[in-house]
Amino acid sequence: MPLVPMRVVLDHAAENNYGVAALNVNNMEQIQAIMEAAKETDSPVIVQASRGARSYSQDNYLRHLMLAAAELYPEIPVVMHQDHGNEPATCYSAIRNGFTSVMMDGSLMPDAKTPASYDYNAKVTKEVCLVAHALNVSVEGEVGCLGTVGQNKEPPKSVAAAIHDKDLEQEPEPEMAHLTDPDEAERFVAETNVDALAVAIGTSHGAFKFDKKPDGEVLKMDLIEEIHRRLPNTHIVMHGSSSVPQELTDLLRKYGGDMKQSWGVPVEEIQRGIKHGVRKINVDTDNRIAMAAAVRQVMMTTPDKFDPRDFLKPAREAMKKVCIARMVAFGQAGNASKMRAAGLFK
Ligand code: G3H
Ligand code: 13P
Ligand code: ZN
Repeated sequence: MPLVPMRVVLDHAAENNYGVAALNVNNMEQIQAIMEAAKETDSPVIVQASRGARSYSQDNYLRHLMLAAAELYPEIPVVMHQDHGNEPATCYSAIRNGFTSVMMDGSLMPDAKTPASYDYNAKVTKEVCLVAHALNVSVEGEVGCLGTVGQNKEPPKSVAAAIHDKDLEQEPEPEMAHLTDPDEAERFVAETNVDALAVAIGTSHGAFKFDKKPDGEVLKMDLIEEIHRRLPNTHIVMHGSSSVPQELTDLLRKYGGDMKQSWGVPVEEIQRGIKHGVRKINVDTDNRIAMAAAVRQVMMTTPDKFDPRDFLKPAREAMKKVCIARMVAFGQAGNASKMRAAGLFK
């Protein structure tokens, strides 16, 4: 079975009111974890690779690993998605390597750090849509900016603290300054023809998102409701949607990991989003923590082990568990066979 365009999966998700986890991969074990979770739960899946992942794994390895996944699991519709393409060339090289979906993240300049103007964003996203759609590849765009991709190694000042700064008329944090403007979102979708729209609602990438359980002041789920009201036919994407489960961070710490207390996006908030048009939910950090904790556990408890498989098997199993939990919680479980029955893929 060939890989399928993301649009096919997200349209089915919208028609049947569920969300789909978009899970980041860098290597074979992560792809295996996702595919086994998908098989066990009968879920369509979105597998995504960042620019960093592509350079770590190398495109040729990644392409063949994804083809192997499609070959080994013909019953599962699989989307291969470029996460945070920083410029059109990145999206085009992904397409040449068999990706069936790309994110043109024109909310930032090609350095993937500097916030871009609306005009720049609309121009590059529209260009990528024209090319990608001609090749049956789906496109995700973004309006508003999240925390810097892959940079949250230190706890950032929380969005709550940023609001406090704003009250005191200090310079606000970027997360607050770049929440999605619903007017811009409406205009952007009309001008670019994107298949899916990532919105900035107060989340950021990485393990440090909020310094307490987020409420509506810092995690703007009401913004999603407003955007969905204006754009009922647009698939909304939530980035930075790891939940940073306490039990996983506890396990990591128990076996020597050094991770400060922090809060992620509660699964029930994501479920609320799914009721209001959220169809793609990006999760990477939770799987990273789960795998790291599993590796640490083996290393700490059995220091005599040195076969990489002794670390990687439990790590793969730990990621599979997280994937299953998200697939069930987001409602994608049980839908692979329905898509097949509806003739949406062969
Ligand atoms: O967008 C963020 C993802 O977690 C990917 O992170 O750029 O470190 O591969 P990365
Ligand atoms: P997390 O860091 O919350 O897992 O977000 C991942 C993401 O948004 C990838 O694009
Ligand atoms: Zn992201």
